[in-house]
Amino acid sequence: MEDRLRSIEDEALEAVAKAQDREAIEQIKVRFLGRKGLLTNILKGLGSLPKEERPKVGKHANQVKVKIEHAIKERLKSIKRQAGPRLIKGFDPTLPGRALPLGHLHPITQVLDEVCSVFERLGFSAAKGPEIELDFYNFEALNIPPDHPARDMQDTFYVDEKVLLRTHTSPIQVRTMEVMKPPIRIIAPGKVYRCDSDITHTPMFHQVEGLMVDRDVSFAHLKGILTHFAQEIFHRDTSVRFRPSFFPFTEPSAEIDIQCVICRGDGCRVCSQTGWLEVLGAGLVHPQVLRNVNIDPEEYSGFAFGLGIERIAMLKYGINDIRLFFDNDLRFLNQF
Ligand code: FA5
Repeated sequence: MEDRLRSIEDEALEAVAKAQDREAIEQIKVRFLGRKGLLTNILKGLGSLPKEERPKVGKHANQVKVKIEHAIKERLKSIKRQAGPRLIKGFDPTLPGRALPLGHLHPITQVLDEVCSVFERLGFSAAKGPEIELDFYNFEALNIPPDHPARDMQDTFYVDEKVLLRTHTSPIQVRTMEVMKPPIRIIAPGKVYRCDSDITHTPMFHQVEGLMVDRDVSFAHLKGILTHFAQEIFHRDTSVRFRPSFFPFTEPSAEIDIQCVICRGDGCRVCSQTGWLEVLGAGLVHPQVLRNVNIDPEEYSGFAFGLGIERIAMLKYGINDIRLFFDNDLRFLNQF
């Protein structure tokens, strides 16, 4: 029996040393240590040996088992080291990696960031407000009472009688002035909603509101800041035109046009031969709006403006259909 154990040990250790892969090791395990393996059979048959031989043979058989198991463990380690990742079928670690396509910001986000950074450089800080807004902030506090005809200027999505999807970012003016006292210098970027859809209008679009309130703020400050803005976003020599307009929450109010970015003022199809393109609405904050938030209009004055980001992006990149921004066609988006 002792000789038999020695020959099993020699045979097993030689086979382990020669094994080249995991499969070969598995076969060795089955042959020697498996349920019907050579060594297992000897261990199982210990009971049939004469009583005095059993401890000696048992001890020897266990030693052989430990040696074979140890040799298998070590061999597996070296097979793993040698073969490395090549063990995974069909994987060649020496090939160069495949580059994943890199994404980038949506053009509307890019223009939004650019617009905000122009004003941030002028000392304006960003404020936020809810997209689901109270009628009070969207209209009433902005001097637009129920049944006022100015409500028709913005087709509103109502949630119920008192709650709506904000139609502009101007409610943030009111929310800011409720909690902050002058001097105030904020911009409020965000999504707004109107029941409106054609090649220059979408039901959801982005606006940036601007508000500055302090002592002696005048229309001249508004003109200076918006002219600087237009020249930063478009050409450095872009001219700006202020046309009288009406917003219930500003007095006086103005619509601001920039010189046509396509024909540089000569007149073309994009500007309907006028040489000018409308980009935003603005004005001096109406004294009633200041009173609504307990700011004394005798002491303080301010200006506000609101611009549409999609409109600025269309002008900047010469895009004639606003819906292209929302189709998510990569052939379009990858150009930015
Ligand atoms: C307003 O929304 C005012 N709250 C702006 C304002 C703020 C005036 C502060 C005075 C003081 P208006 O409705 O004109 O104004 O919208 C501003 C800009 O939003 C427009 O010039 C246009 O560029 C953009 N806009 C309006 N409706 C849509 C729409 N459906 N789709 C895309 N852009 C739109």
